Amino acid sequence: MDPVNLSEFEPLARERMAQQAFDYVSGGADDEISMKENRAAFARLALLPRVLIDVSTVDTSTRVLNQDISFPVMVAPTAFQTLAHADGELATARATTAAGTIMIVSTLASHRLEDIAAAAPGPKWFQLYCYKERSVTQELVKRAETNGYQAICVTVDVPRLGRRERDFRNQFTLPPDVVPRNFEGVADLAGIDPAEHGSHLTAHIASLLDDSLTWDDIDWLKSITTLPLILKGILATEDAKLASEVGVAGIVVSNHGGRQLDGVVTALDVLPDIVSAVGDRVEVFMDGGIRRGTDVVKALALGARAVLLGRPSVWGLAADGEAGVTKVLHMLRDEVELALALCGCPNVAAVSSELVRSR
Ligand code: GLV
Repeated sequence: MDPVNLSEFEPLARERMAQQAFDYVSGGADDEISMKENRAAFARLALLPRVLIDVSTVDTSTRVLNQDISFPVMVAPTAFQTLAHADGELATARATTAAGTIMIVSTLASHRLEDIAAAAPGPKWFQLYCYKERSVTQELVKRAETNGYQAICVTVDVPRLGRRERDFRNQFTLPPDVVPRNFEGVADLAGIDPAEHGSHLTAHIASLLDDSLTWDDIDWLKSITTLPLILKGILATEDAKLASEVGVAGIVVSNHGGRQLDGVVTALDVLPDIVSAVGDRVEVFMDGGIRRGTDVVKALALGARAVLLGRPSVWGLAADGEAGVTKVLHMLRDEVELALALCGCPNVAAVSSELVRSR
């Protein structure tokens, strides 16, 4: 049966993917408390709709970093998408462009960032992991610029990888045909023994990523690119303020889908404080647990400019390649439109904090 909501793509993905690949995508850190809390946080918020407002046309579009998008949802960076479907990031790029929004391409993509850019003309951001080897980081940024990426989204919550126990149990190993193609020849995983590290990805991160990154490095990144920077993985209001002081263009309030430190706050819980602390100085996005149009509206009501969608886009990809991602994005856009109409909001700008209450 065809899925009628985003969550129903998960069992389809489970059927179609190798178990260790499915577990890598769908799992979280430790006891997966934060992963579950991301959903629970949305359930704790209630909507308080207005009535007798003309919603005969509802405009779901919005603007992020001066770019129009068809609805306030972007596709989150997720690694190694050929684990889900042979077309991987190429299919996600095509579906995202067709849906009129932005794909954030992972450093750990399983296609080259050049090929992903060429696959579909739509706007893209590049998610950056900072490597110990500065020239590797610099080269990635340069390639993103040359290939028309419009922003660099730096992940700041992975000095080390969280404990993904499903991956440990499975001794998660990338199949030979799934490689981080942005690094062919540079950060070769072949010589890394996953048994020593718990999983292949933990090994890559432990050996190559820079766990000494500080705010000075954000200054350095600013100095090597003309593209706007977005910091992904902020939860503390103090960090949000520091981000606005160093002059980044945006932040993604995120607990990395519950995949990093388990037991942390949810993005939704801290969003209002962060939004009031940074004001209009940086654009604030969030991710973690978005499954419904009403979730998107709740995040907007708490001050997010847009949200990022992670696992459901990968489940859609696993279910049916490009068509699956398209279905997921269309379904969510339709749900956002309906939620706005039923809230009495003819457009995104009409969403305000008056629209939500804690239960
Ligand atoms: C990588 O960022 C992951 O969460 O697996």
